[in-house]
Amino acid sequence: MVEEVTREEISKAIFDLANDKAPGSDGFNPLFLKKAWQIVGDDIVKAIQNFFRSGLRPTLVLSSRSVIQECFTKNDIIFANRPLLPSRKISTYNFTTLGGQYGNHWRNLRRFSALEIFSANRLQMSSNVRAEELRFVVKYLFKSSFKGAQKVDVKAFLYMLDFNIMMKMIVGERWFHFEEEEMDMDMSKAKLDEFMKMFSPPMMAALGDYLPFLRWLTYFGVEKKMLKVHRKRDAFLHTLLDAYRNPNDQSTSVPNSEINQTILDVMLKLQESEPEFYTDDVIKGIMQSMLIAGTHTTVVTMSSIISQLISHPEVFKKARDEIDKHVGQSRLLNDAELSKLSYLHCIINETLRLHSSQTLLAPRESSEECTIAGYKIPPGTQLLVNVWAVHMDPESWKDPDSFKPKRFLESKEEKRGYKFIPFGSGRRQCPEESLAMRVMALSLGTLIQCFEWENAEDENNGAIKTNSKKAEDRSVKIIFRPRESLTKVLRLL
Ligand code: HEM
Repeated sequence: MVEEVTREEISKAIFDLANDKAPGSDGFNPLFLKKAWQIVGDDIVKAIQNFFRSGLRPTLVLSSRSVIQECFTKNDIIFANRPLLPSRKISTYNFTTLGGQYGNHWRNLRRFSALEIFSANRLQMSSNVRAEELRFVVKYLFKSSFKGAQKVDVKAFLYMLDFNIMMKMIVGERWFHFEEEEMDMDMSKAKLDEFMKMFSPPMMAALGDYLPFLRWLTYFGVEKKMLKVHRKRDAFLHTLLDAYRNPNDQSTSVPNSEINQTILDVMLKLQESEPEFYTDDVIKGIMQSMLIAGTHTTVVTMSSIISQLISHPEVFKKARDEIDKHVGQSRLLNDAELSKLSYLHCIINETLRLHSSQTLLAPRESSEECTIAGYKIPPGTQLLVNVWAVHMDPESWKDPDSFKPKRFLESKEEKRGYKFIPFGSGRRQCPEESLAMRVMALSLGTLIQCFEWENAEDENNGAIKTNSKKAEDRSVKIIFRPRESLTKVLRLL
């Protein structure tokens, strides 16, 4: 991993290249390099060795449960940092967001968010937000069914629902409106695309983060694109903040809030008493974390669950029977009843196991030397945990490729012992597992309760291909038909 690349390896790599391969950025093709090797060889070897010496970020990639456990228990504090990638400096407000640099600032932020944003109390307070948003969605689906079978792009639809829930928790207002007219308009689709781009997690790898001497290349390439998106996002968040501070200013007003105390209410109050800590950038960073981390992961997971349920009608039926048994058919499912729906939770867990929204956990970085599995790990080592390998390990999971929600019902042990880590682990574990599970269970439970689902692209006889490696790449189109026994309830929404 950290061994020097040898002269022999470099010259073999160059002499193995086809003579007519297109020239690199230096303008020389392999034939030239081979012919001039006696003259230029020493310089090339030196340049490549320097390149790896100064550019390499030592990286530890872990796939085995016991070793992962060692990192997240006795060495958790050593691996509590995230690598400070230069390309992310601006888009993370100088690494001051919830996903940023470990230290006093992060600890204060995490303490504040545990009390004020992610607390059990706020989760309870926001239950009416989730119920209200789902009511809009269900009403929209019911009304549009009058026009005949409508194909619904599940990912786009769930994104609007989720973004609205987050926006309501933050500023008290939904952003997308589920009125039929707007949903059908091109403008609404364009608005959705713009927001999905603006608030999707940065997937692009910036070469300059790993090979510092190539930073100029990154700066004018990937980083330039990231900066463009960041500027748009920052302007949007800034406008929201301004509108909140100056509710009478017509140009930036956010309409009246529908919940008692929004997250911005809490943060702006704290800004008055501690302005040096709760700066505008810190507030925007928190809003950004919620709108990025809180939408993409949940939407990708819910789309995968819907695909699985379409492909496994017997699982869908069992989930519906459970809802009918505990909730009935005379009213909509609510937040307080979710704890009774253990099979529905098993479906969510099994999908998180098979199609985790993150195949690798967000990278960590060691702050000092430590020992893992008997090996000395130097400070500054990047840690990548392979969630996919852990979730598919045949030693932990019987028949790991199969979708079997029941396995989580049969044994509570299934979630223990670092064999199931969709939300990560330790100090940097996802702070919003409870919110995410509630949003997913309530949304899916309500859709199962109220509608018959049909695959709108039925080329696989009802089943949707779920073996694509990248969950976010899957597009799922469903026709939701109102369930006859629920029409009385649906008419009253
Ligand atoms: C299905 C839904 C979700 C999944 C699978 C998920 C998964 C994860 C994972 C794997 C991490 C990294 C943990 C680690 O490094 O050990 C993480 C971090 C984080 N998540 Fe989530 N998440 C979900 C929903 C949410 C929601 C709804 C929010 C907020 C509203 C959220 C906010 C965050 C934040 C702020 C972090 C960074 C924590 C830190 O670095 O200290 N997540 N999430």
